[in-house]
Amino acid sequence: MDKTIKGVLRPLKGTITVPGDKSISHRSVMLGALSEGTTHVRGFLNGADCLSTIGCFRKMGIEIELSPDETEVTIHGRGIHGLKQPSEMLDCGNSGTTTRLLSGILAAQSFESELTGDESIQKRPMKRIMTPLSQMGADISSIRGNGCAPLHISGSHLHGITYESPVASAQVKSAILFAGLYADGDTTVIEPALSRNHSELMLQALGAHVETTMLPDGRAKITIKKCDKLTAPKETLEIPGDISSAAYFISAALLVPGSDIVVKNVGINPTRAGILKAYAAMGADITLEHQHLAGSEDVADIHVKYTESLHGTEIGGFLIPELIDELPVIAAVAAGAEGDTIIKDASELKVKESNRIAVMVDGFKNTGITADETEDGMIIHGQGSRLSIHSGEIDTHKDHRIAMTFAVLALAGGETTEIKLLDADCINISYPGFFDDIASI
Ligand code: S3P
Repeated sequence: MDKTIKGVLRPLKGTITVPGDKSISHRSVMLGALSEGTTHVRGFLNGADCLSTIGCFRKMGIEIELSPDETEVTIHGRGIHGLKQPSEMLDCGNSGTTTRLLSGILAAQSFESELTGDESIQKRPMKRIMTPLSQMGADISSIRGNGCAPLHISGSHLHGITYESPVASAQVKSAILFAGLYADGDTTVIEPALSRNHSELMLQALGAHVETTMLPDGRAKITIKKCDKLTAPKETLEIPGDISSAAYFISAALLVPGSDIVVKNVGINPTRAGILKAYAAMGADITLEHQHLAGSEDVADIHVKYTESLHGTEIGGFLIPELIDELPVIAAVAAGAEGDTIIKDASELKVKESNRIAVMVDGFKNTGITADETEDGMIIHGQGSRLSIHSGEIDTHKDHRIAMTFAVLALAGGETTEIKLLDADCINISYPGFFDDIASI
């Protein structure tokens, strides 16, 4: 389904609540399944990715109940050794998180399994998890021998390792930590920069022994001990709003003159909230209200006002893992800032649901924004508050974050702009109600 978005005449005003965090939603099902007892979840993200995770665990004998709107989930955990061999190939859909984290769990089971996903998943790199899992003793292979899914896994007895990951990736880290639950001895991951730590927080809350140390050079060292038992939380797990989804509204409000909005109840875990740092560096008028803890996760309302005088900035280094999924929409806001914005150290963008560097720079060309693709990022030549967006067509490459980013740019284009998004229904991966929510403000 294609969709045309028109620029807005009026400022964006009001309060909005975005759906639950995608990363935490996945982990709630995976770790809920491995816990003893019943896990109740509220604020679950009913996007296609998280439903893929539910589908996989149901195929392994886990009973999971969903409320009619699919935002409340009850997972009947069967303990750390309670999964059953699936009778068919596990389908991870478009979800890298499902594929990689599940592989970590499957590597340690007492059965064989196979997992795959859609066209995009079958092109995404899996060697990054196959290498460390094999070092732990796993028997995991790419069925077509190209380092991608479909994967075949024969569950094995694992042993702990110390693995220096070349990439700051929470998916790689979590796959190893989940395998580490079953491995003899300690399992340690050293990452070049701390990636999102939702797995560590949830594992700890369920009774696993996980320790994180920041090394003097900024690398992060995370160690997990073998674990016999995870215990389902007594309280309902309240999943905060996804900052990656909030990012589209924050960004739209910064670009559309006169806007003033509050995005309620958003997860601002410091390993995820890099967008707030980047926008602060660009001079954005953003304040946090009602900060509190939901379980182990930091949460706040984010109050955003249109900012006429945004200026370019440089985004790189340790900040990249904290805002990796938000870089497309940050690049869009950079187009409305005065001067250049340089995004660097972000090669990981090339191996997301699409090559987000190439696809963004291409889309910018079609909408009259100048940006240069670089080896590890891009340079956006900002137009300042005179931002003018040409009408045009965007090939989203079925990448949800590209579709939502260009919807935001269309809004900022003013009354004469019309942007046609090809395959706009890819937003269902992470935000099924996106177009309705945009309309509501
Ligand atoms: C995720 C980690 C990130 C992110 C993805 C979700 C997770 O991927 O881009 O959308 O839930 O662990 P990488 O770990 O590969 O950077």
